Amino acid sequence: MVVISLGGSVISGEELNIDYIREFRSFMEHCNERVFVVVGGGHTARKYIHTAKELGWDQYSLDKIGIMATHLNAKLLLTSTTNTEIPRTVDEAVVASKIYKDVVMGGTEPGHTTDGVALLLAERMGADYVINITSVGGIYDKDPRTHKDAMLIESMSYAEAMSLLTDKKMNAGLNVPLDMLALKIAERSNIKIYIVGTELENIKKVINNANFQGTVIK
Ligand code: UTP
Repeated sequence: MVVISLGGSVISGEELNIDYIREFRSFMEHCNERVFVVVGGGHTARKYIHTAKELGWDQYSLDKIGIMATHLNAKLLLTSTTNTEIPRTVDEAVVASKIYKDVVMGGTEPGHTTDGVALLLAERMGADYVINITSVGGIYDKDPRTHKDAMLIESMSYAEAMSLLTDKKMNAGLNVPLDMLALKIAERSNIKIYIVGTELENIKKVINNANFQGTVIK
């Protein structure tokens, strides 16, 4: 079984990335492993959160609208091998896993991101790793989008990853590689987090325990 946190921005930018949506659906359908994917909100979430914020909504309600965006994105990944309705909780995902080979879900509760959900799902299912698919493809010593000389950090501890987060405020729509809940759950249950880019061949390498491009947090 493979648990994947699929960053929303991978499929939802200014436009929805239909090519990647097709590719990912096919990957799930043909994967010999069972695939459990938690889909993020991406641009759709940020757009709605931004507008609702302008309207004066509180943070809880902003999170709720963000969750709705994750469900909307998740819908696009439903295939013949997955559930037909999006689970609202990890427990509902577990129920779906009794029926379907693959399970697709989005966010659950306010206060964290879909990375946290992926880790809780992994913990509940007894998975020993989560693959976090992001546009950036790993953790770098500097932002690789603005620094050409940014170096990939291949491996880091949970504590090191947590210290990267501590100076960042957790707000709806914030663009950080992982949230604290995800790291805390990973640490307490010893679940590795592989942060990789979108390339499915690279993701298969992680699944097959081969050399991959990205960062592992352990
Ligand atoms: P994401 O998980 O996509 O968060 O959820 P993110 O890190 O901002 O964005 P990407 O997609 O990885 O780039 C979008 C928003 O939905 C709410 C939060 O406000 C989050 O920022 N959310 C999501 C929750 O409140 N709870 C959840 O379980 C999931």
